[in-house]
Amino acid sequence: MVTLLKTGVEGLDSIFKGGVREGSNLLLIGPPGTGKSILTMQFLVEGAKNKEPGLCILYESEIEDYLLYADSLKIPLRKYVDAKIITIIKQSTTVQKIPTFSTPLEQIKKGKVTRIVLDSLTMFGYIHSENTKSFRFEVLKFLSLMKGYTLLATAESADLSIDKHSAKTEEFLFDGVIHVTKIRQESTFERVLNITKIRGQQHLLNIYPFFIEEGGVHVYPDQLPFALISHDENIRSGKKVQKK
Ligand SMILES: Nc1ncnc2c1ncn2[C@@H]1O[C@H](COP(=O)(O)OP(=O)(O)OP(=O)(O)O)[C@@H](O)[C@H]1O
Ligand SMILES: [Mg+2]
Repeated sequence: MVTLLKTGVEGLDSIFKGGVREGSNLLLIGPPGTGKSILTMQFLVEGAKNKEPGLCILYESEIEDYLLYADSLKIPLRKYVDAKIITIIKQSTTVQKIPTFSTPLEQIKKGKVTRIVLDSLTMFGYIHSENTKSFRFEVLKFLSLMKGYTLLATAESADLSIDKHSAKTEEFLFDGVIHVTKIRQESTFERVLNITKIRGQQHLLNIYPFFIEEGGVHVYPDQLPFALISHDENIRSGKKVQKK
């Protein structure tokens, strides 16, 4: 039987038609400052609330900075770290000390981990591989090590535009891909999210607006992004959309 896990992100589970499949691996991809790290905190906390131990593998931020960040958003990550339900591991990013996965794997064996976060796969790639080919192999190796656990990894994308985004190697390797970005309309940016794929699971296909506020990311599955509505209306009415 398929078990769907709640993401901990308001509005997101209904886009997944219930939640993410237990044991699947998901990639959360987007440009800088689009809420990727924040969403991973919510995912871990949601598991911890249900007594599912979580493991967070950080490449980019220090553990205390990640916790302070969660504190500032009133995401109770620290509480579950103190209670030892969530474990955070900082992987070294120095060339002198190439990190291995022995520490995360020890934690996984010890703690019967259910949810795993990797923030971020892009940095993982810089550290563990030298070219696209070896990156693909390293990611596949990592995914096979994480098999059976529900994994949420973040990845950087340089493309702000959804239409111009060209799929990256890692998007082909994961079971599911979620895109987050910002759309500009005149002088305003709007945050949007869409699910690009999930193997073996139905999901909604639209582009949905979301906000980052106290508690983290909040998705609005019943709304459409205002920036796209007026863009489409302009096209329908024959008005030229100004290139900027
Ligand atoms: N306390 C807060 N209240 C509202 N919005 C916030 C708050 N803290 C951060 N943000 C918003 O969240 C954004 C950053 O989110 P996050 O750190 O998750 O991005 P990211 O996608 O992981 O970025 P990067 O790729 O650079 O790591 C900020 O740019 C800011 O707009
Ligand atoms: Mg981040």
